[in-house]
Amino acid sequence: MNELKVPVITIDGPSGAGKGTIAQMLALELKWNILDSGALYRTLAYFMKKNAISLKNFSEKEDEIKAKFNVSFDPGTPGEPVKVLFENEDITSIVRTEEMAQLTSNLAAEPIIREFIKPCQRDFMIQPGLIADGRDMGTVIFSDAKHKIFLTASIEERAKRRQTQLKRQGLEVNMRNLLQELEERDKKDMEREHSPLIPAKDSVMIDTSNLNPEGVVKEIKTYL
Ligand code: C5P
Repeated sequence: MNELKVPVITIDGPSGAGKGTIAQMLALELKWNILDSGALYRTLAYFMKKNAISLKNFSEKEDEIKAKFNVSFDPGTPGEPVKVLFENEDITSIVRTEEMAQLTSNLAAEPIIREFIKPCQRDFMIQPGLIADGRDMGTVIFSDAKHKIFLTASIEERAKRRQTQLKRQGLEVNMRNLLQELEERDKKDMEREHSPLIPAKDSVMIDTSNLNPEGVVKEIKTYL
């Protein structure tokens, strides 16, 4: 396998496993670029909703969408989510809701959507390096990356973390609903036909349930 010219560390795993926090910490420490692929899918879902674009008319509008789909990320500050900028407007709080996550998960199962997002993701490979966070970073998009991490955590711990994140955004959520939504979304992401959520064979698996973010980063550094 050819080695990538730009070093890439992939971080995959289910929702709430800590991918965003860890990707942010590594990107800030290494001064590397960051790709939050989940946010890329969320932004596309937001754009389609806003412009009344459906799966049916997606292909006829594809060139128009491509021309307008300018997404970038700012790792921001620790403790805050990675910022999502769409045409230079900060849409972080708009796309990081559970409602948008469910909508996104449905869309992300569609091959036409995955094919559209694929090249956008490779465009983030810029020197000095890239931290790529998602579900299929190590298996599909950067299958040629040298370093692959797969984060897991118990469903209870992941729901707790998601609740804290949403609370910080000023959103109140019911824990029972959140648990159910996370379970449904994980199931959909793991069982879909195209690019399902599975660990790459050459990935290192870290259970983050009983670790703080610094502990996870320490384990990753030991592996690197
Ligand atoms: O990571 P995040 O929760 O923002 O992702 C939202 C949804 O986007 C996921 O539930 C998943 O369905 C989809 N996704 C994906 N492939 C990725 C990243 C996210 O299908 N690489």
